[in-house]
Amino acid sequence: MDHEQRVTLLNKMTLREKVGQLVQLATPFFKGASDQGEITGPMENMNLSYEDIEDTGSVLGASGAKETIHIQKQHMKDNRLGIPLLFMSDIIHGYKTIFPVPLGISCSWDQNLAEESARIAAKEASVSGVHVTFAPMVDLSREPRWGRVMESTGEDSLLNSDFARSFVRGFQGDLSNNSYNVASCVKHFAAYGAPEAGRDYNTVDMSEWMLREYYLPAYKAALDEGCEMVMTAFNILNGIPATGNKKLMRDLLRGEWNFDGVLISDWGAVKELIPHGVAEDAKQAAQKALTAGVDIEMMTSCYVNYVEELIHEGKLNEETLNEAVSRILALKDKLGLFDNPYRFANEKEEEEIVLAPEHRNAARKLATKSIVLLKNEQTLPLKKGENLSLIGPFSTSTDILGPWSWKGASEDTVTFENGLKAALSSEELPVAKGCNIEDGSEEQFSEAITTAEHSDVVILALGEESDMSGEAGCRVDIRLPEVQLELLKEIKALGKKVVTVLFNGRPLDLREVVENSDAVLEAWYPGTEGGNALADILVANVNPSAKLTMSFPYSVGQVPVYYNHFNTGRPKEAPDAQERFASQYLDAPNEPLFPFGFGLSYSNYHYGEVSLSSTQLNATGQIKASIDVTNTGEMAGDEIVQLYIRDLAGEVVRPVKELKGYEKIHLEPKETKTVTFTITEEQLRYYHSDLEWSSDEGNFEVYIGSNSKVNVGKRFELIK
Ligand code: GLC
Repeated sequence: MDHEQRVTLLNKMTLREKVGQLVQLATPFFKGASDQGEITGPMENMNLSYEDIEDTGSVLGASGAKETIHIQKQHMKDNRLGIPLLFMSDIIHGYKTIFPVPLGISCSWDQNLAEESARIAAKEASVSGVHVTFAPMVDLSREPRWGRVMESTGEDSLLNSDFARSFVRGFQGDLSNNSYNVASCVKHFAAYGAPEAGRDYNTVDMSEWMLREYYLPAYKAALDEGCEMVMTAFNILNGIPATGNKKLMRDLLRGEWNFDGVLISDWGAVKELIPHGVAEDAKQAAQKALTAGVDIEMMTSCYVNYVEELIHEGKLNEETLNEAVSRILALKDKLGLFDNPYRFANEKEEEEIVLAPEHRNAARKLATKSIVLLKNEQTLPLKKGENLSLIGPFSTSTDILGPWSWKGASEDTVTFENGLKAALSSEELPVAKGCNIEDGSEEQFSEAITTAEHSDVVILALGEESDMSGEAGCRVDIRLPEVQLELLKEIKALGKKVVTVLFNGRPLDLREVVENSDAVLEAWYPGTEGGNALADILVANVNPSAKLTMSFPYSVGQVPVYYNHFNTGRPKEAPDAQERFASQYLDAPNEPLFPFGFGLSYSNYHYGEVSLSSTQLNATGQIKASIDVTNTGEMAGDEIVQLYIRDLAGEVVRPVKELKGYEKIHLEPKETKTVTFTITEEQLRYYHSDLEWSSDEGNFEVYIGSNSKVNVGKRFELIK
């Protein structure tokens, strides 16, 4: 269908039918739906008629080739003009083959693997009848109390932007000629990751300068990569709910950024304009949201109940409605649905493709690249013949897929126990749960202590239940549950070597864990192949190389704590400075326990000195910054070399350093490689107080190192 044909179709539609295209309902509303589909928000009575359903434009949370074909077939019979449904779902880190949660994926710093994970997810989802995924989520977050950090790619806007592009390429690619893809939908627009006090759905308030410098780049990166849709955020932004925020959506997104794709509300966010206190009733909510540019209302019925009335009353012009409908029809056309309403849905292919061995292998590989080694005192890798035991609530748990792993199934998941036994090729591994996640019995404890006593090395599998993070999973105490800390301390008191492996969705306060463990691995929620991936790391089939993309606070009292902070007028020069009147705490350091970019290896990497090809850069030139990195260890390994730059004086304050490049290199034992980064004037641009995006003449410092604590640099001058 071309543009003209879509206009002809639009002109045939009644007002009611046009409004129907703006409605998205969950699967149970549809004739022929067999299961509940994915319900991810509060349900409410929407008093819809069957005619309303027959006019509906899209379905939330349906999947399965059989199910979606059935629903679509029924709909094509019932819908007067034969306008096909769009099927949209949350395929965030895998469809049925579940990859690590995105915060884990981001610790790989590997764009190729991230893109591949999205491509595999799209392939499995598309043969299962899904057309659109509500991903990537690119909300920058410096807030570990917030449950949804697990869905983000961390605290840095450059890294977030790189991952945004990779995920869009993987999910969607070029819709017109790639097969087995789905349209992507970047979310949550905007700045959902900065809720006050780390509480979900809470107030977001920041200057436009801060918004543009840190929080907006990743959304823009996704759209520049061709992302077809945008989802609004639940939060207010500078006093106005994002979902009714004309300045944010009409002026910035559609005006300044020229986005002409489909904008969908998050679940219920249109009707939530009422509790937010910017709409008195559903009718006013409909008027505000549609005027602000929201095309599809997810799971509430303000549009279907009031848009016609608003148009008849002259409070909304039909052109605004026509615009929204046209964008939705254009997306259906791009997906080829007018030619083939079933697109790639295919039961036979679904059988062959979903959970294919090569998909599992990709998930296992990415998981090994996402697991971060935080501490290792002559303990790992495990040595042959060591007398091991596996203890803790996550030793046998299948709850290692993490939030937003919807179609992922326990029965497909390789547990830690099974992965380790397979790697050790022994069924003899003593296993004891020790306690539940948040409570435990004396008997569980004593069984675990006895098990530990009979081993030399205890592998302790601890963490958060997956519903302790994710949407609405916010915590003010970001330590492990008390009972797990007690178990750890009692086992440590036995004098055994303790390897603590963590399954969690956020940076935690790990002081007690680090103090009582000889080695610590951050496994996040490693996904369907998690057990095998962890075993690969423990027995050194894979040398750990992952690096943190979010700072781990020393204490939740430091939050927000992040690497690219401003210096203040009274920096605490050295971590142990005693001078009182500096920007510091009386009872804690300023630095996080583990900084952005941190992660150990079984090898050691020695960094030489930074060398610059010149100490002067002009507006059209470039400087090469190089460094030699040597693997001084006994094992081959990968090292993520990071380039940071500091602008020593700006028109506004500038961070003490900013990530400006990174490269993962492979080094054989004793091998040295020279890593070279190119620096251009463009990388030195920033938002000035008047929101102009430009660079200034002046001095800059270049750091290249293994994490963001690097602070020995070389200086150059920008001359314009
Ligand atoms: C949820 C989430 C959003 C998700 C949507 C549909 O409330 O905020 O990320 O895509 O509903 O499930």
